[in-house]
Order: sequence, then structure tokens, then C-alpha cells
Amino acid sequence: MGVETSCDETAAAVVDGERILSNVVFSQTPMHRRYRGVVPELASRAHQQKIMPVICEALDRAFPGARLRDLPDLVDAVAFTQGPGLLGALLVGKTAAQTLAWLHGLPAIGVNHLEGHAFAVELQERIAFPFIGLIVSGGHTDLVLVRGYGRFRVLGRTRDDAAGEAFDKVAKLLGLGFPGGPLVDRLARRGDPEATLFPRPVLPGTWDFSFSGLKTAVLYHLRKNPRSRPEDVCAAFQEAIVDTLARKTLDAARRFGVSCVVVGGGVAANSRLRLVLTERGVQKGIRVRFPAASLCTDNGAMIARVGLLRLRAGRLPGSCPVDPALPMRSWIGSGRSKNKFR
Ligand code: KG4
Ligand code: ZN
Repeated sequence: MGVETSCDETAAAVVDGERILSNVVFSQTPMHRRYRGVVPELASRAHQQKIMPVICEALDRAFPGARLRDLPDLVDAVAFTQGPGLLGALLVGKTAAQTLAWLHGLPAIGVNHLEGHAFAVELQERIAFPFIGLIVSGGHTDLVLVRGYGRFRVLGRTRDDAAGEAFDKVAKLLGLGFPGGPLVDRLARRGDPEATLFPRPVLPGTWDFSFSGLKTAVLYHLRKNPRSRPEDVCAAFQEAIVDTLARKTLDAARRFGVSCVVVGGGVAANSRLRLVLTERGVQKGIRVRFPAASLCTDNGAMIARVGLLRLRAGRLPGSCPVDPALPMRSWIGSGRSKNKFR
């Protein structure tokens, strides 16, 4: 079982190998919409109210009629998001997951949220190592060389705004609503991506990203051209962000001699990113894989998947304190080894 509460989705799932038995997500978006962003304190309270109903529903959908007391006969472990994310939100998920696990004599496994995004695609298809992982979400833009399960090297990350954050902020500038990514994506389909040439923040010589200048360029453009069509601004902004992500990701694949790229995180649902990365990948002989949209955004199945990988590898973490800034660290070659589940 996987429990995910790092931001504004209360989620739980049951996964058997690569097969999803249930994947329940309660989205708090309608509640946060009136504040045009996630309010951490409200998120924690909503997680508290919803976490047990969501866990029970995930269990019931996987095993109809099952009760919590049946848990030890039905699952091998309870995984939860240890970080990164909002402190209060993470604490709710960890407390629920760990209490359930301990009550039923099961292992509780803290999982890195970003690792969940990197392996979400494996709930659809097997991916061969090594691959370049591009994790693009509301809080992160990370480029990672993945050599195997639990074996990664973070090549670069954003120095300021994450890709999803840039989408959300530009949507806000245009008065589109929250969360902005899907709204910009939809509006951009009717716009001209060449209406304005926004900067491509490539940062040569590093694998890092930076999107705050791009967002500021959109702001100045709107101030100078208040009558520009929102669909054109969306299309041109989206083109700049997609072009930057695609160039750096495929460059990294070539530089490290890798023939597969895996994308994860909410922004991986972006239709233009999916098209451009896939097409350019084909031209360069690089396979680019995306999870289905429901597995791009936050969910419990991706957390369960990574928990299962750790269980199978016999690498169970210790007490797993929640950490809002938890870095993505390799876990093969470290941790306590238990081979019971091999
Ligand atoms: O991974 P996620 O669900 O939560 C975090 O871990 O942050 O990602 C949420 C982010 C938001 O910024 C949202 O605007 C963005 O993903 N997003 C999109 C799309 N769908 C969600 N951005 C661009 N295009 C989309 N279709
Ligand atoms: Zn996420």
C-alpha cells in the first residue's frame, strides 16, 4: 500500500508488482482555488479529515469488502511519502501509514516523492536502465541519471521556479485560475507559439534550470502589450518552457550515452511537452516514455511502487522522519538489509 500526502492530494493505492489494484486520489484543488495557490495549513487539515476514508477506499477497491484489520493478510508493507513536500501535510500521511503498519506488524517504508514520479511509468511498462529521468512538478524540475533501482545521480535542478510553478504563475498573470498548468495547456492549443519569442533559459555548462526570468519576460510582455491574445501568450510561453526542457533532457541523454528518457510529475501531463519530446527523441534515436496523465500528478500508486522496490531489494529505511527538502539519494549500497521478501 502507498500513501501520498506531500501537497494537496490525499492519496492511497494498492499495487501488486506493476499492477495497480486501486488508486484513490482526493484532490483538494477546489478548496485551494479561491486562494489561487495551496495554503499549507488548510492542506494539512484536509489531509487529516480525508486520510483514513481514502485509505479505506483504496483497500476496499483493491479487495472488495476488506476491513483494516485484514491488512496483514492483504499487503506486505505500507509505504508513505517522506518528502519533499509540505511539513504538516507529510506528517499526516506518515502518521497514518506508520500507525497502520505498526498496529498490523507490517514494515512502514518512507519513500522519496521524486523517486515515485521517476518510476510511475513502471506501472505501465518495464523500462531498461540506464535512463534519464526528467521530473517536472509544481515544486521540482530535476534531471536525474537513473542507473538502476535506488541508484541515481541528480544532474541538475531548478535554481528558482520549478516548471509547474512557472505555469501556475503565468496562469495567474493571465487571470486564468489555479492550478494553471492544465489551463495554459488547453488555451495554448488555440494560440500561435511563434506570436512572441520568449527566452529559452538554457544555462550552458550546467544541467540546472531557471524559469523565473521567463515568467518575468511574460510579465513585461503583458505590460507592454496589454491587448495580446491570452492564447498566444500561453502558446509562446509554453513553447519556451517545452523547448528548454526538451533540449536539456535530450542533450543529457546524448552526453551520458543513454537511449531512454522517462518523464514524471504533473507537468509531464502537458500535451505539448509530450509531443515535442517524443518527436525530437525519435529524430535522435532516443525513446521517451511518459506515464498516463493520472500517474503524472501526485498519487499513491507511485509511492507503493517504490516501497515495493525497496522491499524486494531488502533495503528498508529506518525511522524515516519527514523532510520537506528530502534530497533524492541512492539507497542501494546503504540501509538495513532484510531479504525476507526477495
Ligand atoms: O506532481 P504534481 O501533481 O504535484 C507536485 O508534486 O508539485 O504537479 C503539479 C504541477 C502544478 O504546477 C500544475 O500546474 C502542473 O503540475 N501541471 C501541468 C499540467 N498538469 C499539471 N503543467 C502543464 N501542463 C499540464 N497539462
Ligand atoms: Zn508531485
